[in-house]
Amino acid sequence: MTAIVIAGGRVVDQNGDRPADVLVDDGVVKAVGDKLRMPGADTIDASGCVVAPGFVDLHTHLREPGHEEAETIETGSRAAALGGYTAVVAMPNTDPAADSRAVVDFVRAAGERAGLCDVRPSGCITVGRAGERLAPFGELVEAGVRIFTDDGAGVQDPQLMRRAMEYSTGLDMVLAQHCEVSALTRGAVMHEGRCCSELGVPGWPALAEELMVHRDIELARLTGARIHVLHLSTAGSVELVRRAKADGLPVTAEATPHHLSLTDEQLRSFDATYKVNPPLRTMADIEALVAGLADGTIDAIATDHAPHPADHKERPLDEAPPGMVGLETALGVCLPILSDAGMSLVDIVAALSWKPAAIARLDEEHGRALEPGAPANLVVFDPAAEWEVVPARLASRSHNTPFAGRPLRGRVRHTLLHGVATVDTGTATR
Ligand code: NCD
Repeated sequence: MTAIVIAGGRVVDQNGDRPADVLVDDGVVKAVGDKLRMPGADTIDASGCVVAPGFVDLHTHLREPGHEEAETIETGSRAAALGGYTAVVAMPNTDPAADSRAVVDFVRAAGERAGLCDVRPSGCITVGRAGERLAPFGELVEAGVRIFTDDGAGVQDPQLMRRAMEYSTGLDMVLAQHCEVSALTRGAVMHEGRCCSELGVPGWPALAEELMVHRDIELARLTGARIHVLHLSTAGSVELVRRAKADGLPVTAEATPHHLSLTDEQLRSFDATYKVNPPLRTMADIEALVAGLADGTIDAIATDHAPHPADHKERPLDEAPPGMVGLETALGVCLPILSDAGMSLVDIVAALSWKPAAIARLDEEHGRALEPGAPANLVVFDPAAEWEVVPARLASRSHNTPFAGRPLRGRVRHTLLHGVATVDTGTATR
């Protein structure tokens, strides 16, 4: 393994934001300091760039097994590396769903074969994500699963969710809920509000999310379970999480780049590219989400990368599946919004890297401060680079991005996984 000197950059991690070179060898950080040199080492010129712990995505749909026409573990891993990610949590709504050791082992092994980022499978809360019987938690924990979710659906039955939480406390699990009371969202295509009434289409009320956020916070209070709220989208949900944290409950939450940047007004085009679950909301919700990230109520930025083939997304709004790809654009979308809101680079990188790493229990390997001995899972990005995404050039097998034609700021130049470049000068190495 060739040693690498990352020279002339600005190191941003838990220890702050300062100019420093980073020497990487044998898969680990060897030194951080001034004018580091090593004979025979490769050099990465990081002038003008941030050098940080690699990003960790808590919410990636890789589609394999079962929907390889939309994405594979390899194409999704490549998209992740290009977005600066060194680890992703793979969502379990595959076919078959990740409710058994066989599926979880398959996903992890395919991630290792692709070798582009660390793929950590999540497991289902209920068998087949059907919401009826609990999945075999013990077997899945033994297989290395830490995050459990039925994502794509929330667990509707409060008694079943209570039992899941009771079991989870003995097993060092995190229950990650997709908060949606499905009785309130049947047939819905977009956020229930003024825009939706004007368009005359069925709406998806904020309450459908907030009722379940509230229910799960109260169940966590009762059981002591560790819960994580997926893709928060409403101001009311942010406030519920804020109060739960103030009460000292072990609750964490994430927000997606699209909910931080786009509103329901996009649906006036009737373009299903903008259809997503939970739906794009209002400017007031965006402001609450940004404020939630800034004050630490929301811990992490998570992409909810949800690839869908073009012929599915070209269907009419009520028939098209919800979801957007997001791995390759997350930094470029979030950096300007959060910087403009006054967040420091350290706090922004925290939400992309070490905070999600801790939630997923990946913090031994990922999101580590750049100190000697830390695994060299790193990203080098230019925070000033302005660019536009070209959907056809995305590495993801599906190109359903809502960000085409929008100015993005912040671009990944290099990603290192265990000391080896997965992205070199903006190009995937394999
Ligand atoms: C997700 C998908 O496509 O798997 N879609 C999405 O809009 N987030 C699942 C889901 O949450 O509906």
